[in-house]
Amino acid sequence: MTLPSKPGLKRLDAMTTLLEFMTAAHRRCDEALAAAEGEVCGKNWGAAAQKYQEFNAAMACHFAQEEDVLFPAFEEATGMTEGPTAVMRMEHEQMRSLLAQLASAAGEQDSSRFLGLSETLMILIQQHNMKEEQMLYPMCDQRLEEIDALIGRIEAVGSDSGLRSPKPEEGAP
Ligand SMILES: [Fe+2]
Ligand SMILES: [Fe+2]
Repeated sequence: MTLPSKPGLKRLDAMTTLLEFMTAAHRRCDEALAAAEGEVCGKNWGAAAQKYQEFNAAMACHFAQEEDVLFPAFEEATGMTEGPTAVMRMEHEQMRSLLAQLASAAGEQDSSRFLGLSETLMILIQQHNMKEEQMLYPMCDQRLEEIDALIGRIEAVGSDSGLRSPKPEEGAP
């Protein structure tokens, strides 16, 4: 799907704003968590372990992309090192703690503990992502230069593209 390009609106026909790029990653993480929860609900523990691994890997990759590339770029451009990125880093640590607890619940095949923790994590993720999508990412798009190159550096940290392969429309070579 491509929109007709207009002068001065080149970013409308491609997914090249940081907000769009990072928001798409948030949605893939949400879908990966929902997939893991679905398998835990059905007590399909083999599939649940695999889906949880995929979710955990996607979250670890996304956190590294932000902490190692995006946040330092924002801090350098704005001089704000104790502002929004400090809050986001702290929230990442809270989520990492819950991810570790979830892994242990999955290992123990404890579905009620897993689903209780995953609900708490989902709420934290939604609150965190809302701050990034409504404030931090738009600020990055406004304040940082050479967004395409920045996105390239973010992608170089790692890819969660393995999560996309099950989608039927992307399955054909
Ligand atoms: Fe984040
Ligand atoms: Fe994020």
